[in-house]
Amino acid sequence: MPTFRMPKFASIFALALLQSIHVSADCECGYSVNATTSPHYSLFTDLIESDFLHIDNIKADTDWQLQAYNVSAADSRGPYGKLAEVDNVVSNPLKNKKSFSGASTLGGDPGLQLIVRGGKPSNGLIPIAEVASVRGDMMFGSFRISMKLTNQSGTCGAFFFYFNNSQEIDLEFLSSQFNASASPVNLVLQSPASADAGFDAANTTTFDLYQLPFQPDAGFHEYRFDWTKDKVSFYADGQWLRDMSQAVPTDAGHITMSHWSNGDSHWSGGPPEKDAVLTVSYVKAYFNSSSPARKKDFSGRCKNPSAKNATCQIPDQKVAPDPLGPNGNTAANTFFFSAQSNMAVNQTVYRQSGSVRNREVALGLLLALPIALVLLSL
Ligand SMILES: *[C@@H]1O[C@H](CO)[C@@H](O)[C@H](O)[C@H]1NC(C)=O
Ligand SMILES: *[C@@H]1O[C@H](CO)[C@@H](O)[C@H](O)[C@H]1NC(C)=O
Ligand SMILES: *[C@@H]1O[C@H](CO)[C@@H](O)[C@H](O)[C@H]1NC(C)=O
Ligand SMILES: *[C@@H]1O[C@H](CO)[C@@H](O)[C@H](O)[C@H]1NC(C)=O
Repeated sequence: MPTFRMPKFASIFALALLQSIHVSADCECGYSVNATTSPHYSLFTDLIESDFLHIDNIKADTDWQLQAYNVSAADSRGPYGKLAEVDNVVSNPLKNKKSFSGASTLGGDPGLQLIVRGGKPSNGLIPIAEVASVRGDMMFGSFRISMKLTNQSGTCGAFFFYFNNSQEIDLEFLSSQFNASASPVNLVLQSPASADAGFDAANTTTFDLYQLPFQPDAGFHEYRFDWTKDKVSFYADGQWLRDMSQAVPTDAGHITMSHWSNGDSHWSGGPPEKDAVLTVSYVKAYFNSSSPARKKDFSGRCKNPSAKNATCQIPDQKVAPDPLGPNGNTAANTFFFSAQSNMAVNQTVYRQSGSVRNREVALGLLLALPIALVLLSL
């Protein structure tokens, strides 16, 4: 008899373990901006999170594609053309993988550098940097970037959603507009009206030059746009800036970070005198997918939306996530669902071996093993 009892017990235990593993797969029904009990909340099924303070080499990162192209002066609508090169995108992670501040590998501000090369280019093309998401199925979402802009006058630093030239959501920073008393960000929805005006949104209703309460070139801050069916809301460090409800995009697309100049005195200015560096410490994107396969994945994994922790609220980043400040290690240690062992089930976030998030997964397994052994020996 005892020889039968043991396997039976073991199988009951195995079942319980499996169930507990299933229950602990949090966020399987998505990520929400605002609490699900709030009258206004939006649910997103997919995420991409990139912790550039700890990613060694963006070229290995399967979530991002580095852009290489050139555009003539005529096509770039400026006195100069643009030359996007992969070498102008440089990973500069922190030396200490367990820290969120301190010395960077190459020196200077830690994170992903997007560089516009300085000086007048001999071939008429200004060397610039651009990185686009591999995912082109982003349809509504909350898109967040933490970055420090350049203090070299003559560039445009941008974080944007793009479907086409009249369905585009832009956060654009012109370094020529920064000085001790002005810290503007250009909030733009490109629209059929801006396309008609030669791709100049300045006189359209979906354009706003917003003065920020801090200097974007003095430290890292989080910039964010939330795109839903009815409106786009812009934020900085969790503070609401503006809503725009006209020309809201209706098609799925990519997100892109770029740093460029075409010498246009009415926009980017430049070229900058010296190399101009924009540094990104993270991107976090919570979005719905237009892909039938991803929709099917969602309905497959979301069994019971009202189960505990099935839906996870996305924390608001209320302070500047700045690794350079006096509390850098605390301030820049922001929340990543993908760094938790159980909150990014069936998501496709790039995992770098040896990174912070993998260590936490490993720690979870290390803890689970002795617990399982203790239980089995009962
Ligand atoms: C979050 O709630 C605020 C109101 O408190 C609302 O204006 C905003 O649209 C909501 N955000 C989303 C993405 O639903
Ligand atoms: C995203 O997709 C989910 C699942 O289909 C849906 O419940 C949710 O309302 C969508 N979110 C938005 C903002 O449309
Ligand atoms: C963008 O796409 C929409 C929908 O397909 C189309 O109506 C519009 O003309 C396009 N805009 C441009 C500038 O091509
Ligand atoms: C700062 O820039 C604004 C416009 O961008 C300008 O009106 C203002 O005079 C400038 N201030 C200084 C001190 O240069």
